Amino acid sequence: MGYMRVTSLSHKEFIRRVRRIPVHGLGLSVDVHAPELTSLLRSLQARQVPPGYFEVFYTEPAALQAVREQVGQRLLAYHGEGLWITRPEMAGAWAGRQELDDAITHLQILQSAWLNHECATKYLAGYSFGTYLPPLYTPASAEMVAENAWQIQLLLDERCALGNGGVPLLLLEMPPLTYFVAGTLPIPTYFRLITELAPCGLVLDVGHLWTVFRYSGAYRTRSLETFVQAFLDEFPLDRVVEIHVAGVAIHESQVDTVPAQVRSDSNGVLPAWTDAHAAPIPPVLFEMLDQILAQPQLTNLKGIALEVDMKSEELIVEEFVRFTRRYSTGVRCMNVKNDAASESSAVSSERNNLSLADKLALAEAYDRYARVVVGRTEPNGKEWSQSHANVDELDLYRSVYLPHEILHWGGEITEMFPESYRGLTEVHVPLAELVAFWFQEPRSLSGTYDFFLLKVDRFVEFVREVAPTLEAIAEREAEVLRQGYRTANTPHDAVQVN
Ligand SMILES: [Fe+2]
Repeated sequence: MGYMRVTSLSHKEFIRRVRRIPVHGLGLSVDVHAPELTSLLRSLQARQVPPGYFEVFYTEPAALQAVREQVGQRLLAYHGEGLWITRPEMAGAWAGRQELDDAITHLQILQSAWLNHECATKYLAGYSFGTYLPPLYTPASAEMVAENAWQIQLLLDERCALGNGGVPLLLLEMPPLTYFVAGTLPIPTYFRLITELAPCGLVLDVGHLWTVFRYSGAYRTRSLETFVQAFLDEFPLDRVVEIHVAGVAIHESQVDTVPAQVRSDSNGVLPAWTDAHAAPIPPVLFEMLDQILAQPQLTNLKGIALEVDMKSEELIVEEFVRFTRRYSTGVRCMNVKNDAASESSAVSSERNNLSLADKLALAEAYDRYARVVVGRTEPNGKEWSQSHANVDELDLYRSVYLPHEILHWGGEITEMFPESYRGLTEVHVPLAELVAFWFQEPRSLSGTYDFFLLKVDRFVEFVREVAPTLEAIAEREAEVLRQGYRTANTPHDAVQVN
C-alpha cells in the first residue's frame, strides 16, 4: 500500500525540525476577535477541559501580544494568511516581502512552533477573491509550491529564531474545494510530490477532506470510508503535524437558490456543504477523524484542533468538551508515536527548481485557470477534462458563490455605501454590474492583499465608470470606511479584553 519513500534531503530536514516540536495535544484554532479568548478560556477551565493550545489566526501584532499575555504559559501556534504560496510569480521573490515580515513578527510574538498556511491563494493572475482558491493540481504546480516552501523555510531559519532555539516549521494545509476541482493529479499525490521536494509539514483538515469527497465527485462511485482510506494511502501522512476539524454547511449564498436535491442527500446527491467555521461540526467528520487517527503512518502528529473562529462561546465549549472526552486517548497515542519516530538514513534528492520555460507555462496555466473560474473563458484543456477534474458545479461557483463574495462577504456593499447605492438605484444601475466590473480584467494589487480595502477601492472605481456624477459621494463614503478600518485595526481597539 502507499508508496516507497526515497528518504530525501527534504524529508531528513523535516524530521530534524519536527522532532523539536512538543506535542501540543487537543487545541482550538481561533480568531482573536471572535470568540473573546479570556472569557472562552475561563469557561473551558470551569468545565475542566483546558485546551492544550490555541492556534491563532493572522491579525495585528498588538492583538497577538495581548493573547500571549492572556494565556500564560499555554502553547500558541500561528495560522498565517497572505503568503500566497501557490502563485508562480512568488518564486524567488520572498525576501523582503511585507507579508513574510509580518508573519515573522507574528510568529515571534506567539513563539509559535509552526507557521500554518493554506496551500491556496486569494489573489491569482490579476483577479482577487474573498475566499481561498485551491491550486491547480498538476505536477508543475506542486514543484512550484515546493520551491516556494523551501524559500520561506530558509528565510525563517535566517530570521525567525524562537526563544527555545528552534525555528517555526512551515506547514501547508490542504484547502477546501468549493464546488469544483482542476488539475491532472489526484490531490493526495499532489501533496506527496510537494513533500518529496520540500521539508514542510502538512495540516490535514477533516472538513476540507469531506469537500474533496463531495466536489471531486468521488461520492458517486465510492463510500466515504473507501474514499478516505484510498486518500490516506497516498497522502504523506508522516508529514501531518496538525489535524483540523471545523464545521461545514450549505453556504449562505446557496440556501435559497440551490435546488433542494443538491441540498439534501436524497437522490444520491450529498449535501452541497462547504467549509464553514461558524457552523456546528457534523458527526460524520469525527467518524473520518477516527479513521485518520487509526493510520499507522501518522507518526509526527503534534496537535488536533477544532477550528472555531466566528462560533458562539457556548457551542465551542460544548464541542470541545465532547471532543476532549472522545480524543484524550488520542493525545496519549500522539506521545507514543512521536517517541517512536525514527530518523531514516538519508539517500537524498537535491533541490531542483523549475526551469524558466516551465515557470512560464505554469503562469499561463494559472492565467487560464483564473479566467475559467471567474467565468471569462470555458473550462477546456487537460486541467479541466481529465478524471481528477470536476466541473459539474462550476457554474454554481461562478454565478452564485463568487457574486456573493463581491457583494456580501467581508463587507455588505449596500451597508458600506448606502448613499452611493441609493444613487445607483435611482439611475437604474444594478449592483450585479459590480461583479462583472470586478472580473472585467486582471488588475495588479497595490500593496498587500486586504479584501475589505480592495472592495472599497474597486467600488469607487466602479461608480466612476458607471455613474460619474456619484463619484464624489462614493469617494466620501470610501474615506470614512478607510478611516474606520484603520482605527479598528489600531492596537487599543483591536484588543477586546474583559
Ligand atoms: Fe483548517
